[in-house]
Amino acid sequence: MAARRMATPSSASNVTIVTGASRGIGLCIAKELAVRGHRLLLVARDAARLATAAGEVAATGARVETLALDLRDEAAAAAAVAVAERHLGPPTAIVNNAGTAPSDKVENTTPAMLRETFALHVGAPLAFARACVPHMKAAGRGCLLHLASTAGLRGYAFTSAYTAAKHGMVGLARALHAELRPAGIDVYAICPGFVDSDITRAAAAAIAARGKATAEQAFQRMAAQNRIGRMHTPAEVAAAVAEVLHDRPAGCVYDLDRDEPAFVD
Ligand SMILES: NC(=O)c1ccc[n+]([C@@H]2O[C@H](COP(=O)([O-])OP(=O)(O)OC[C@H]3O[C@@H](n4cnc5c(N)ncnc54)[C@H](OP(=O)(O)O)[C@@H]3O)[C@@H](O)[C@H]2O)c1
Repeated sequence: MAARRMATPSSASNVTIVTGASRGIGLCIAKELAVRGHRLLLVARDAARLATAAGEVAATGARVETLALDLRDEAAAAAAVAVAERHLGPPTAIVNNAGTAPSDKVENTTPAMLRETFALHVGAPLAFARACVPHMKAAGRGCLLHLASTAGLRGYAFTSAYTAAKHGMVGLARALHAELRPAGIDVYAICPGFVDSDITRAAAAAIAARGKATAEQAFQRMAAQNRIGRMHTPAEVAAAVAEVLHDRPAGCVYDLDRDEPAFVD
């Protein structure tokens, strides 16, 4: 990994919001940060799944709060930041991980699908930035991290809304990085290829339902699209996120789908 800019302050002062933390990659990230001493606010829509996830994260001894809301709602990010401030302290990092991955041919990709996908992958990270940046600027430190994708770096068939939104997410990270780094705020886009999680299993099941292949064949075809030739695991993505969050390397866009993960800018 590239040279770090500065050591991060002690873990005890880290208050981190992880979105989409009820399962999959987000839950792994929350656990990874918990063992590093972060106080955490976990956000997703399903309150019951969040409570279960919080129990797993709290088992590490970390302080954990949850908030169930839909991040496509424009007011959601500010509400989450207010809850974190009240119960844990002002957020020092946001991990924008919540996501859905609609998949269909372009003829079936509606303006509503595009709007919803952009609201979650681009609108919510912008709303979190708007809510947190004033405090982070005053503190002279902070980190905004986008769980993007190689779909933010290249194109995949039958994913026009998702691929466009992930390019938007990466573009937002680049713009915020240029604007905020002089103020001491680091902004990153982490880009894995296909990861073995609910999103990928659901996509494989959808392909199987259309009779194009078995779910296992579809899953293996997705894995083969990764340059590393296999699925990423949620744990390795979470480890990369935690490393970047703590080391604060100088880059912005981190491509994990390489034998040696690297910053591409
Ligand atoms: N899996 C992959 O192959 C892959 C590859 C590259 C990048 N990524 C990215 O990694 C991130 C996590 O993906 P994953 O594979 O871990 O997915 P996942 O297992 O389906 O988990 C998605 C998480 O996001 C939450 N979420 C979804 N819509 C939400 C909304 N409107 N408001 C609030 N929370 C919402 C879900 O909880 P609720 O449903 O309860 O809200 C859940 O906690 C996504 O941004 C995805 O694009 C995934």
